[in-house]
Amino acid sequence: MEKKNLILRTKFAERLGHWFLVICFVPVALSGLSWFFPSLSWLGGILGTPQLARVLHPFLGVMVFALLVFMFSRFAHHNVLVNTDRLWFKNVKSVLLNRHDKPLRIGKYNAGQKVLFWAIMACAIALLASGLVIWRRYFAEYFPIPVIRLALLLHALAGIGLILLIVGHIYLAIWVRGSISGMLTGYVSRAWIKQHHDRWHDEVIADENSTRGRP
Ligand code: HEM
Repeated sequence: MEKKNLILRTKFAERLGHWFLVICFVPVALSGLSWFFPSLSWLGGILGTPQLARVLHPFLGVMVFALLVFMFSRFAHHNVLVNTDRLWFKNVKSVLLNRHDKPLRIGKYNAGQKVLFWAIMACAIALLASGLVIWRRYFAEYFPIPVIRLALLLHALAGIGLILLIVGHIYLAIWVRGSISGMLTGYVSRAWIKQHHDRWHDEVIADENSTRGRP
């Protein structure tokens, strides 16, 4: 496709952060699942041995959190819910049926992506806070047993919650054709943004026109 028909959606640093996040998240999530469901205990080998997984899981978990802080700094301002997002919620059925006949005034990210974004961030904070409390090697000794029990429960719930959110995120990324290649190359087509993010499309055009008019 010609370069003039492509629009930069995600910058290099953001893509790098995202895919590094995926690389760190997978072993953390799978090792966590191996301790939660006995039938999945074989996943404990994902980081070499189950013993090694015990040591590395919290360090990689902190890495996941740090990368999410980076993603937050880059994406939070695009994910603030605005008035026009009501239209997306009202028409969620036609969105799910892949019907794009009606303009829904969708900005750079749609209302569903925004809700998912904040839910991911909330789970990340819960996982970090509870994870520090139950980190036996460094912090657990500073907390009484009932607090540790509560933190264990919160950690498990937030972990399962985050994994389910990410499964949904991956499903939607595959379902909306062109979004994964956008996250790989950074670029999406004009037709793609017109179809999926009509308000952002108008903003991009207005921006191009104003730059063209500048001396
Ligand atoms: C194989 C796994 C994954 C795939 C295929 C994937 C795919 C994508 C794609 C295509 C986008 C861009 C969406 C768009 O341009 O509209 C995106 C954005 C994003 N992804 Fe992922 N992702 C994966 C895993 C993850 C994980 C594990 C996390 C966090 C724990 C994550 C967090 C994010 C965030 C925060 C954004 C920005 C979305 C926003 O600002 O609303 N992703 N992902």
